[in-house]
Formats: sequence, C-alpha cells, structure tokens
Amino acid sequence: MMEIAIVGGGLMGHGIALVLALHGHGVRITETDPETRARVPGLMASALATLQEAGAAPDGWDSARLARSVRVEADLEPAVAGAGLVIEAITENLEAKRALFGELDRLCPADAILASNTSYLDVFPLIPQARQARALVMHWYTPPYIVDLVDVVPGPGTDPAVIAAMRDLVVGLGQVPIVLKRFIPGYVANRIQSAISAEVFRLLDEGIAEPRDIDDAIIQGLSLRIPILGHLAKADFTGLDLTRRALANGSYAPPPARTRSETLDALCAEGRTGVMAGRGYFDWGGRAPADLFRARDRKLLALKKAMAGIGRMEGT
Ligand SMILES: NC(=O)c1ccc[n+]([C@@H]2O[C@H](COP(=O)([O-])OP(=O)(O)OC[C@H]3O[C@@H](n4cnc5c(N)ncnc54)[C@H](O)[C@@H]3O)[C@@H](O)[C@H]2O)c1
Repeated sequence: MMEIAIVGGGLMGHGIALVLALHGHGVRITETDPETRARVPGLMASALATLQEAGAAPDGWDSARLARSVRVEADLEPAVAGAGLVIEAITENLEAKRALFGELDRLCPADAILASNTSYLDVFPLIPQARQARALVMHWYTPPYIVDLVDVVPGPGTDPAVIAAMRDLVVGLGQVPIVLKRFIPGYVANRIQSAISAEVFRLLDEGIAEPRDIDDAIIQGLSLRIPILGHLAKADFTGLDLTRRALANGSYAPPPARTRSETLDALCAEGRTGVMAGRGYFDWGGRAPADLFRARDRKLLALKKAMAGIGRMEGT
C-alpha cells in the first residue's frame, strides 16, 4: 500500500481519492478552493453510499472510516510530504500545471512518482528533467469509482519499471489499465469520443437530426454491440473485406476540424449549460444535480454488473 497525494479535489480528484482509499492506500488530497475543499468528504461519502447500495463497495466502510483514510489539506506541503505517488488532478490549464509541477519538484520526496490526470495536455515538458524517469500520465474517467479504464502513458524519459508499477497499482484497484507506447492528446477513448463529438456537432449544426434522435442512434444502434465487441472485434464479425470496401468507396468524409458549434453556442448563450444548470440539450425537469448524478450512477452500476455477468467475446 502506498501513501498517495492527490492535488486538486474537484470532480476527478475526490473520485480518484475514494477509489484509492477503498483499496487500502493512505490518501491526502489538497485543494486550493475552500468551498470545493469543504465539499470533498461529503461527495466521497455520497459516492460510497451509491456503491454500497449497488453492492459494489468493499465491506466495512462508512463515512467515518473514509474521513480517517483521506486527509484533506489546504496546503500542498503537508499533502505531499512522504508521498510515494502524487497525482495531479488540477484544472486543465497549462500554466497552472506548469506552476504546480515547479512546486511539486521543490516539495516532493526525490523518489516520488509524479502522475498527471490531464486529458489532453502534454505535461511532460513542464516536468523538471531530474523527475522525468518517475513521471507519467495516469488518466481516469468520470466517475472514477465506476468507470474502470485508466490510461497509463509514459513520457519520453519514463522508466519502464515505473510504468509497470503503476499498471500493477491500477490492477490492484480492480480497474483496467491500458498502457500506451507514447503520449498522444486524448489517449484512445477520448480521441474516439472527440471523433464522435465532431460528427454529432455536424449533424446538429447542419440540421440533419435532433438531439433525441442522435442519442437514440447511439443508444439503440451503437451501444448494444460495443460492450461485448468493442470496435475491432465488431469489424471481425462484419468481415474485414467489407470493412476494406467501405473504406475504399470513400463515401464517408469526416467533418473538417472545427473550433465551435453554432447549436452549442446557442444553448450556452441561453444558459443551457447542462445538468448543473438544469437544462442543456435536454430539459432535466428541475431535478437537483445531485439527484441526477445519483440516478446516472445507479444505472451505470447496473449496466456494469450486467456486463460483468455477460462478459466480452471469448478470444478478444
Ligand atoms: N472531468 C472529467 O471528466 C475528466 C476526466 C478525466 C480527466 N480529467 C482531467 O482531470 C483534471 C481535473 O479535472 P476536473 O474535471 O476534476 O476539474 P475540476 O475543475 O472539477 O477540479 C480541478 C480542481 O483543481 C483545483 N485547483 C486548481 N489549482 C490547484 C492547485 N494549484 N492546487 C490544488 N488545487 C488546485 C481547483 O480549485 C478545482 O477544484 C484536468 O486535467 C482534466 O482534464 C477530467
């Protein structure tokens, strides 16, 4: 078991802290914003309750034990003192991360492993040379206590032994690491999700389909096969000859790269920014965000249980 510091107690930080604590690691979490910091214990306790309700938490945990296992700190120095692993989960801003890595270099034990949860930023140039051998990306998905995938990504100078140790740590959390050969923004799942987003923005902006229809196409059309086959095993079932012919026909052209979507801008201008605002592409019927997150998590946990029972295609 390790002593692990998490820097940033927002959406991802508190969730990663929960996963680590439930698997026996000593966790310290540091967050600069006092309101966010004060919310961390309650958010973790609520997520624990959701997991317990679904029978998906280890035995013997309650909010008091959680509070003893995850120390919440206002300052960086006590949070990282003696930590073997530091996970950076602060705002996705290059300059903020640059400043933080400078501080981490000053304050962390010389042999600490420095991991970043960044989604897209190449953080390796921000990390001092002497720390490169023990620096990597460990990228969780939200909510980290339900979605098992963790991307483990070396930088140009990362010691392969560090990658192997962090891969093993993720396996020990009951999660599923994938190890990339090198850094690429968005890794695998987020890149595929970005490609889906680009296509969806095109369909909406060009008035070809409504939000509900697009989500029906995804839920009723794509989703059923993906949990069992992923994408490449599905191609094997389609037949690679047909896959090759479809490619050669050239009838699909991906949308050109875009930096904005008119339909998205219009929603945001109306204050329809999503679940937290009560409305986005859909109207969430005045339900409190906490309720909606809880309802989503219950459904995700039920799906995860069903998927575990069904399993992926043998041989893949
Ligand atoms: N939201 C997601 O779905 C998701 C998924 C995977 C990875 N990520 C990545 O994880 C990181 C955090 O994302 P998030 O969604 O949790 O953001 P968030 O805004 O919810 O949380 C970030 C927190 O970091 C705090 N912070 C900023 N500077 C700090 C500092 N120097 N020390 C301590 N705390 C500081 C902020 O006050 C904020 O509460 C980002 O790099 C993001 O790209 C996000």
